[in-house]
Amino acid sequence: MTKWVSGKVINVVRYTSSLYSIKVMAPVDSFLPGQYAKLALKINNKRVQRAYSYVNAPSNKNLEFYLINVPQGELSPYLCQLSAGMMLMISKEPAGFFILKEIPQCNILWMLATGTGIGPYLSILQEKKDLERFNHLVLVHSVRLGCDLSYLSLMQQLEIEYNGKLRICTIVSREKFINSLYGRIPELIKNNALEKTVGLKITAKNSHIMLCGNPQMIRDTQKILQDIHQMKKYIRSSKIGHISNEQYW
Ligand SMILES: Cc1cc2nc3c(=O)[nH]c(=O)nc-3n(C[C@H](O)[C@H](O)[C@H](O)COP(=O)(O)OP(=O)(O)OC[C@H]3O[C@@H](n4cnc5c(N)ncnc54)[C@H](O)[C@@H]3O)c2cc1C
Ligand SMILES: NC(=O)c1ccc[n+]([C@@H]2O[C@H](COP(=O)([O-])OP(=O)(O)OC[C@H]3O[C@@H](n4cnc5c(N)ncnc54)[C@H](OP(=O)(O)O)[C@@H]3O)[C@@H](O)[C@H]2O)c1
Repeated sequence: MTKWVSGKVINVVRYTSSLYSIKVMAPVDSFLPGQYAKLALKINNKRVQRAYSYVNAPSNKNLEFYLINVPQGELSPYLCQLSAGMMLMISKEPAGFFILKEIPQCNILWMLATGTGIGPYLSILQEKKDLERFNHLVLVHSVRLGCDLSYLSLMQQLEIEYNGKLRICTIVSREKFINSLYGRIPELIKNNALEKTVGLKITAKNSHIMLCGNPQMIRDTQKILQDIHQMKKYIRSSKIGHISNEQYW
């Protein structure tokens, strides 16, 4: 059974008409970067709850979540109406296995996201712990429009802070956008454009791929990686495999 605590909204940032982030103060248990919490509101006297990845590093006590307002969604349109000082419910305990402990040893860790799926990687990269065993980190954010790159300045700042170890890449699918690839993740892997832009090669021997966000992107990307690079899905019980994923719906 989920244990709930009250959270106070300290800030809501609206990036576009549908994308926003919420910062919350709440007495939650400590979490690992990559994990998620459940957020809930009472709507028509019923508690409506959904999972949201932590964006902040665990060492930062301002809890941050990055959301999209799904039209006709049961919860996200209501979370979107919150403002500073308002209250929500948040699960006390974190959940999820999209964490560094579950990533086997490799040379290059690829962190690929669509839309709001960028969150877990920002938590991992802002915490800056347990990354010594990777030689290269690659962060890829794939969105519909350039204006959906809400965390671009944080990505650029992290790239500088990591001093050559982290390479970032943005992908925009519905318009040509400056300094970004055009298209979708699976195709850009298939035609080598992603590897060319990043300057690193994906092989089953040297890489582990994390996929987060749109479930169809995850399925399509897994298929390409299996077909082209003979990579296999990571299995937690055996700790073997090259592809880990967090599906948002
Ligand atoms: C482990 C986990 C972590 C998650 N983390 C996040 C997060 O950090 N940020 C976030 O916005 N959502 C996240 N989600 C999705 C979130 O839990 C809700 O599904 C989402 O907010 C929609 O809820 P809703 O009640 O408004 O819509 P629902 O009535 O639940 O409608 C669901 C439909 O909305 C669409 N949808 C749901 N989530 C998204 C999304 N993130 N991006 C685009 N389309 C979507 C899909 O078409 C889906 O079928 C996560 C889900 C899981 C399982
Ligand atoms: N983002 C917006 O501006 C906007 C506006 C109005 C409503 N919405 C609502 O927001 C939700 C979608 O939000 P979102 O744009 O963050 O998420 P999304 O639909 O998952 O799109 C994010 C990125 O993932 C790509 N993608 C989708 N399917 C893929 C696949 N199979 N393989 C590889 N890449 C794939 C998209 O490319 P494609 O562009 O090629 O699909 C896009 O670049 C929907 O509920 C929608 O109704 C969003």
